[in-house]
Amino acid sequence: MTCFSFLFRKRESSSARQPSEIDQVLSGVQNFRVYTYRELFTATQGFSVVNKLGQGGFGSVYKGVFKDGSVAAIKVLSADSRQGIDEFLTEINVIANIEHDNLVKLHGCCVEGSHRILVYGYLENNSLAQTLLGGGHSSIQFSWNARSKICIGVAQGLAFLHEDVQPHIIHRDIKASNILLDKELLPKISDFGLAKLIPPNQTHISTRVAGTAGYLAPEYAIRGQVTRKSDIYSFGVLLLEIVSGRSNTNRRLPAKEQYLLERAWNKHERGELEELVDASLDGDVNMEEACRFLKIGLLCTQDMPKLRPTMSTVVKMLTGEIDISDMVIAKPGLFSEFMDMKDSRSGKEKVNTIDTFETLSGGSGKLANSSSSSGNITTSFATMTFNSIYERSN
Ligand SMILES: Nc1ncnc2c1ncn2[C@@H]1O[C@H](COP(=O)(O)OP(=O)(O)OP(=O)(O)O)[C@@H](O)[C@H]1O
Ligand SMILES: [Mg+2]
Repeated sequence: MTCFSFLFRKRESSSARQPSEIDQVLSGVQNFRVYTYRELFTATQGFSVVNKLGQGGFGSVYKGVFKDGSVAAIKVLSADSRQGIDEFLTEINVIANIEHDNLVKLHGCCVEGSHRILVYGYLENNSLAQTLLGGGHSSIQFSWNARSKICIGVAQGLAFLHEDVQPHIIHRDIKASNILLDKELLPKISDFGLAKLIPPNQTHISTRVAGTAGYLAPEYAIRGQVTRKSDIYSFGVLLLEIVSGRSNTNRRLPAKEQYLLERAWNKHERGELEELVDASLDGDVNMEEACRFLKIGLLCTQDMPKLRPTMSTVVKMLTGEIDISDMVIAKPGLFSEFMDMKDSRSGKEKVNTIDTFETLSGGSGKLANSSSSSGNITTSFATMTFNSIYERSN
């Protein structure tokens, strides 16, 4: 906390920080380094495309190898997502102090001139989006046992952020590309770039919505209402993806099958959840457990936030400590309900394609500034109407 008071005292002069000042601000953080731009430039061979691991909404990620042989993932924040030094360092202070087996470790940063660069632990097996959901481009076989461990690991990481870190942290962008896998396929949640601290017992309403369509809880998409429950909704969608081996939205499928959550709900109602379990497992699966995981996914995505279980409860449900067999599951908040459909009252066509939202204009139902792409959804700038879902949540 001493770091924070230092930060805020210095806010006025934030644009002209000396390197020693930055070091001082971050000196309370254990196992953390402030890198020079030159060091990172050398480690990535001049930020060469050969070393580029991927590109997200906030910038590019490179593999870097340092002189001592250590390897890191180096995230260069783009001009758009660049924060002022104070905001950047405040966030760093929060993130760098968080350590858990299922969270990617932030090892250091670089704040030189206009550069804002994060240095993370390198994860050998890429993200779930590129491997499990990558459309067969990966050679990794995800056994049921591996998937089960991934689901439980992610749940434990998120439970830690939600319930053990004080004040608690809402991730805001839980999705398959933010779940990275180490060489044993153990999962680590990445990207705390959107994570913000909120005071305990307070609901935070943000005007900035960042997250990928399909993972967004209705109340988050509509009103920018960020709570732990909106993360839990996203986790529920992720759970369905891991068990079924497909992305939450796939526009190449027949209309009825495009939205995974809708499909899961329909299958659940008909008592056919088994049909949703990834066929590529070829029957080599604990079907009772897989269906239980799907039901937990549905419990997490229930329309009313208060019905969704907390993450520590989810962990217990996944491990079997809490029996869910008699639990009644309410209908999920379905994203597809307000996409690609006719407004029954006005007869007007509703707007369709979307993916990552950046700005929500105060509950009016109008979104702008979409950015980034994910999975197999095409990026587009879209203005959307959210009438049906907006009405339901009011
Ligand atoms: N620590 C890491 N170790 C290994 N690869 C990483 C690491 N961090 C990121 N990557 C790779 O870089 C890619 C881009 O990551 P990035 O977080 O910038 O984008 P994203 O997760 O796809 O989207 P978003 O910006 O919305 O989070 C990831 O999909 C992953 O393949
Ligand atoms: Mg990411």
